[in-house]
Formats: sequence, C-alpha cells, structure tokens
Amino acid sequence: MTTGATRTAGVIGWPVRHSRSPQLHGHWLARYGIDGAYVPLAVRPEMLPTAVRGLAALDFAGVNVTVPHKEAALTLADSVDPTAARIGAANLLVVGDNGLIAASNTDGFGFLAHLRDTVAAWTPADRPVTVIGAGGSSRAILVALADAGVPEIRLVNRTVSRAEQLARDLGGPIRTLDWADRAGALQDVSLIVNTTTQGMAGQEPLDLPLETAPVDAVVYDIVYVPLETPLLGAARARGHPVVDGLGMLLHQARPSFAAWFGIDPVVDEALRIAVLADRG
Ligand code: ATR
Repeated sequence: MTTGATRTAGVIGWPVRHSRSPQLHGHWLARYGIDGAYVPLAVRPEMLPTAVRGLAALDFAGVNVTVPHKEAALTLADSVDPTAARIGAANLLVVGDNGLIAASNTDGFGFLAHLRDTVAAWTPADRPVTVIGAGGSSRAILVALADAGVPEIRLVNRTVSRAEQLARDLGGPIRTLDWADRAGALQDVSLIVNTTTQGMAGQEPLDLPLETAPVDAVVYDIVYVPLETPLLGAARARGHPVVDGLGMLLHQARPSFAAWFGIDPVVDEALRIAVLADRG
C-alpha cells in the first residue's frame, strides 16, 4: 500500500519485465516496514534523457538502471562517482535534495560482497585470478578485483581484441591471454570467474576444463539462471568452493536501498527464496 508520504524508487530498463529488482526491493521494504515503493519503468532508449530529467520533477528518490541504459545513464547524471566513471556505466542514480542526480555503479561491490560472504577464507592479495569474458559485467568485476588488491588478473575472452581493449582502458594488473590458452590461465589461481553468457539456460555450457586449476580455487559463475551452471557442477564435483550468481544480484542492490531508504538491508535465505520464487 502506498500513502501520500511514500518514498518512490524504481528500475529503468528496456525491456524491464525480466528485472528481479522489484521483488528484491519490495521484499526489503516489507521486511523493514518502510513507507516506500519500487516500480519497474519501461523506458525506450530515445526517451531516457526525458525520463532521467523527470525523476527530480516526480520526487523520485532515485532509480536503478539496467540494460540497455547503463552507459547512457552516466552521461545524463550531474555527477559520477570514480568507480562508475572507470567502469563506464551506472546502475544507480540517486536524486539529491537539490534535485541533482548522482550516478554510481554497485555491480563490483555486489560481486565482492557475495564472494566474501560465501568464501570468507578468500584473500585477494594471495594469488592471481582468472576472469573469463570481456563484456559489461566483466568491466565492473575487473575494477572491483583490481581495487581489492589482486596482484594479477588474467583476462581471457573468445575475442581477444575485446579483452585487450579492456586491459588498455582499465590498466592495472590485467594481463590478456588467448582463448586457446585458457586452461593454462587457471594455474596457481585463487579464483576463476565466468562473466560470459555461456552456461545460462538456453546457451551452451562454458567450455572451460578445470583440470589445471588448484582445487582450492574458488569458482564463481555470475550466471544465475540456472543457479547451478554446468561450470559450477563440474567445479563442485572436483571439490572447489563455488559461488553462484544470484548473490551478486542481491548484494549489488544493498547500496541502492541504503541510499534511498536509509537502511543497509540484509541478504539472507528469505530474500533468495523471495527472488527465486517469483520467476515472471
Ligand atoms: P554482458 O554485458 O552481460 O557481460 P556482453 O557484453 O554481451 O554481455 O558479453 C558477453 C560475453 O560472453 C563476452 O565476453 C563474449 O565473448 P566475445 O567478446 O568473444 O563475444 C562471451 N561469449 C558469448 N558467447 C560466447 C561463446 N560461445 N563462447 C565464449 N564466450 C562467449
């Protein structure tokens, strides 16, 4: 139920039907008894500038931004935090009291928070890590890993030129390797991350033999439909600690909720169940 005092936020995307964010934030609003609302906002690309400008006029607390608007949202904000600027994409807009819009990116935060929550023993400074894929999700993860102090990030992508471009853009400890060398790239690592779409329902499994990886290496797949991808199944069978993609989605929402509603909400089993149950 909404009232005259309801604080409103939402998610802007095109399409936006697939977004789980309304369930997620709706669960937290109910749990904390907040007079707030979180609505899906289907915004065509050509309408994005008008929509973003309209947020202050409509007294929105802010919005999340999802595909295909994450890059454009950066250019429409009045200020951009350094992490979002390096990633080149925003997933959170906060409308300030002055009506100005601040952009940030919480994907890297969500990635690391879920990793630390699931495998407390993982320490970034110990050993190299390998990241598979060089798309938008990879960018946020590479920035988070570099900032966490990982000494070497081995970046492997089917199209090597895309990985090289990313390494040039971001600098730091990123080293690119050819797709054909991906098995060798797993030697001595503390963490292997799949950021590609491979393993998602309806896609082929990621073609990544794990035999060369140390068995204590954490295997993290950011795909969350299905929760256990073929990669995670193979990793589990070899005894690796495994991390699924749902927790990243849940944790990346925490800074948004905190910015709009003033509470850093918990990620727990009840939230996972609420988000998994509603597969619209
Ligand atoms: P997102 O923004 O969600 O990360 P994206 O930008 O479309 O998505 O990137 C998809 C990633 O999956 C890319 O790294 C892509 O590799 P290419 O750059 O070579 O296209 C990777 N990918 C998609 N299909 C793949 C396949 N069949 N084998 C290996 N990698 C694949």
